[in-house]
Amino acid sequence: MPKVTFTDYTGESRTIAATVGDSVMETAVRNGVPGIVAECGGSLSCATCHVYVDDTDAASLPDMAEMEDEMLWGTAAERRDNSRLSCQLKVTEGCDLHVTTPATQV
Ligand code: FES
Repeated sequence: MPKVTFTDYTGESRTIAATVGDSVMETAVRNGVPGIVAECGGSLSCATCHVYVDDTDAASLPDMAEMEDEMLWGTAAERRDNSRLSCQLKVTEGCDLHVTTPATQV
């Protein structure tokens, strides 16, 4: 079963069994993971689902689309090389993704 591990900015982690086809943001929201606000519900218009993807996992993800790239310039927390919007990251079969949520989304 695919899984996503969320680590918050204090270092506390939680691993969740995820559903193929859901986004990482949906996985977080449905399981009450703090640190993901997702104001727009995944329509790529809020940037409050910002996460930092572990470097070891980043290469396995599809490249970001231009719109995600543009939205990432509007995040509340510092944008880094491994920043992604979790609503744009789909859970796939065999997925074992590790992301860190920033200290703030707003
Ligand atoms: S949930 Fe709004 S951009 Fe991801």
